[in-house]
Amino acid sequence: MNRAPERDAGGAPPAAASAIRHLAVIMDGNGRWARRRGLPRFMGHRQGVQAVRTVVRACRRLEIPVLTLYSFSTENWRRPPEEVRALMDLLHDYLQRELDEMLSTGIRLRTIGEIDRLPERVRGALEDAMARTRDNHGLVLNLALSYGGRDEIVRAARRLAEACRDGRLDPAAIDEDRFAAELYTADLPDPDLLIRTGGEMRLSNFLLYQAAYTELYVTPVLWPDFGEAELLAAIDDFGRRQRRFGRTDEQVQDPCTASGS
Ligand code: IPE
Ligand code: IPE
Ligand code: MG
Repeated sequence: MNRAPERDAGGAPPAAASAIRHLAVIMDGNGRWARRRGLPRFMGHRQGVQAVRTVVRACRRLEIPVLTLYSFSTENWRRPPEEVRALMDLLHDYLQRELDEMLSTGIRLRTIGEIDRLPERVRGALEDAMARTRDNHGLVLNLALSYGGRDEIVRAARRLAEACRDGRLDPAAIDEDRFAAELYTADLPDPDLLIRTGGEMRLSNFLLYQAAYTELYVTPVLWPDFGEAELLAAIDDFGRRQRRFGRTDEQVQDPCTASGS
């Protein structure tokens, strides 16, 4: 494949990108993209994989440490079986095709969600790619697969309850940090920016706990049409937000109170 050198991929990264430790994306609109062209939904998903490639490369260039992509929700199992199968096939092919690039560019692949529910060959490809990229130190590419925020929270509560029942944990010791340590994202920072394509103003069960203070950016652009220019526009918008975390504007502007809890 012919690839432009990284350095020439589009000028200096915007300053706001350096404030993003974790970018999360709800990749929505593949079906509408296909329908508008009179194509089967599957073609929208296939085109969506191209957008994944573009955004992964852009995040590497922008040196964003963690990218979480909402790839398949717990509720997406309700879709017609042939669409679920097509999505699983695309995921399998993506993992096989991208592994070399992940290895050569230092990407570390990981997942959040009910990985046990995925078809065996997809799980095999995932486990292989995660094992082979485990020691990489570049972009953490976190795929949310059979992921649901409510399921994640309930699972964490169950694990804590079991620890209390077995005498390994004092209920009084459960605070926000201890709770977060039982989530799939235990070792990841909360997302700073959450982008949703396709225009819907909802979270659709994504990162419900972690997105408490995440900046939200919704664009009508459908996921297969989302590229580097749209990503830079979202980051630019993020750069103009004031993140107050409950404080007042004046407090945020005062360097003595701006940081610290
Ligand atoms: C997102 O696109 C892909 C997944 C949810 C797996 P959709 O398939 O939801 O596209 P729309 O919302 O129907 O356009
Ligand atoms: C959210 O999109 C899930 C993913 C992008 C994987 P959906 O298309 O499933 O969301 P709803 O059903 O419109 O809320
Ligand atoms: Mg959708």
